[in-house]
Amino acid sequence: MNRTHTCNALRPADAGQTVTLVGWVDTKRDLGGVTFIDLRDREGLTQVVFNPGANQEVAQRLKTESVIQITGKVTARSAETVNPKLGTGAVEVLAATIEVHNVCADLPFPMDDDKADKVNEDLRLEYRFLDLRRPRNIGLLKLRAKAARAIRAELDGQDFLEIETPTLFKSTPEGAREFLVPSRTNPGEFYALTQSPQQYKQMLMVAGVERYYQMARCYRDEDLRADRQPEFTQVDLEMSFIDREDMYKLIEGILKRTWKETLGVDIPTPFPRMSYQEAMDRFGIDKPDTRFAMEIQDLTGLFKNSAFKVFQGAANTPGSVVRAINAKGLADLTQGELTNLETIAKSQGAKGLAFIKVEGGEWKSPITKFFSEEEKAALKATLKIEDGDIIFFAAAPWEQASNVLGRIRLESAALLKAKGRLSLPTDQYNFLWVIEFPLMLWDEEEKRYLSAHHPFTAPVKEDEPLLATDPAKVRGQHYDIVLNGVELGGGSIRIHNPAVQKRVFEDILKIPQDMVESRFGYMLKAFAYGAPPHGGIALGFDRVVAMLAGRSSIRDILAFPKNQNGRDLMADCPSPVTPKQLRDLRIRTVEEEKKA
Ligand code: AMO
Ligand code: AMP
Repeated sequence: MNRTHTCNALRPADAGQTVTLVGWVDTKRDLGGVTFIDLRDREGLTQVVFNPGANQEVAQRLKTESVIQITGKVTARSAETVNPKLGTGAVEVLAATIEVHNVCADLPFPMDDDKADKVNEDLRLEYRFLDLRRPRNIGLLKLRAKAARAIRAELDGQDFLEIETPTLFKSTPEGAREFLVPSRTNPGEFYALTQSPQQYKQMLMVAGVERYYQMARCYRDEDLRADRQPEFTQVDLEMSFIDREDMYKLIEGILKRTWKETLGVDIPTPFPRMSYQEAMDRFGIDKPDTRFAMEIQDLTGLFKNSAFKVFQGAANTPGSVVRAINAKGLADLTQGELTNLETIAKSQGAKGLAFIKVEGGEWKSPITKFFSEEEKAALKATLKIEDGDIIFFAAAPWEQASNVLGRIRLESAALLKAKGRLSLPTDQYNFLWVIEFPLMLWDEEEKRYLSAHHPFTAPVKEDEPLLATDPAKVRGQHYDIVLNGVELGGGSIRIHNPAVQKRVFEDILKIPQDMVESRFGYMLKAFAYGAPPHGGIALGFDRVVAMLAGRSSIRDILAFPKNQNGRDLMADCPSPVTPKQLRDLRIRTVEEEKKA
């Protein structure tokens, strides 16, 4: 069955040769008694010509996406029939034989991109084998493979050892919800699928590996979004005897090489850096999209003596602020869009979303009647207010005000983009390190501190004494790499001293001592046996590829993604299992329990 060429190989210099091609029938046309088939394989298209005769009759009956093999002579096309859009557009193959390997059933959706893109995603996922066959989607898989190659080449070149670690691991608190796997040989006990190889890679450092990496499969039972799948891939790495600067340099080198080798784009390094505090103050989020400004302005001082009680109250409450953004040119948003923004603000805990619309020289707002002329003049100057603008305010505790305005800023940008007033090019790459996160964040619900990153992150050396007195003030040696508002990856320098680690678990995170012993005991033990200083990072590989591809959903760049409900629609799972399987695992479902 051997082909002599792929469907993207033949050029005018090949004219006169007899070749064998295999592939799928992409399109079929009858013209002037002759039948043309564009034959497609992974690499491209070649036009095949069938003159009247038995072969043509076979060709005419073929449905698109059937698999055929043809043999024939390559001929140069006449100048006026050359197709400059195709690599093989200057030649065609005159079919002498045709063999049909497989006839394609009626297609569930059209295969050309314009039409297929409009088809319901669930249907495309059910027929993912067809959807992937579209050249553009195969192209995304190629891009992914190319990116993986670039990353491996860079890490191999820097003496990292690629090491696989188990995915059947121990359930640990302090992280995303885990997938549990019952153990048949240890009845009543469970593995958890790894959320990340975090603890294993730290053990590899204690083991003296010094430089480890892996394209690691990770599993998290989270609510799914466009950039979140229940299973995903990390470029996971860890190094000993390094500091944060080494890590920034390494990751910048990896990303630079990846962008160059996949897109041919030179990204400038080093990347800018921004503290968590600055990111929250200016952009209201810890992963700012810096492709546009619309920055948050602080008005707390301005409203200290305001007649508007909501603002005046916040301005005089320690820890609270009055802040605003100017969504330039969005004053003509619809009532529905405005209501939606208010709902979003309220979902962040805001009591309301005060606004000022500026239209026809007039300030339209339910609150400006409370403002003095001085306040209005100051607002105008600080927020650079012009006709067509809309200003959104938040008067709230610092973190909530940041969260509210951060969300409103992104939503406003999306509205402006949809109206064609803001361009957010996907080929502009604003990389950014976000650093100096707090080590701990207070959780109001649980009434305790939770790790901002994870409990293994080391405090900044000079902040260590504050661990005992004021944990909220301790900065962690944690870094996130952000691109255009997407968190591409995160990591930290780790604690390698067992006493400090134990203190973080017990005194700060308030994990009961017996749980620390049962869940993390082996780590504390290992740290007592010569743990080197170490640190690492994990890049969300799916997100990296989505950014390279200019896609907003990582489902697009995964071969077989789960849908929004976590289902594999092609294989149709998760799915029920037999009572015997459950008995072997000593598991009884709630449904069975009810029946019994
Ligand atoms: P973290 O939890 O920040 O760190 O994860 C690292 C990166 O993985 C990606 N990511 C995801 N991608 C797709 N779907 C998901 N559900 C998902 N969850 C996370 C993100 C994220 O930035 N062990 C630490 C790393 C370290 O400290 O070295 C860790 O897993 O891009
Ligand atoms: P009120 O005086 O409570 O009716 O509020 C007047 C306007 O301010 C309304 O548009 C509210 O949505 C808005 N608002 C109320 N509280 C806040 C707040 N904390 N931050 C921003 N806007 C608010």
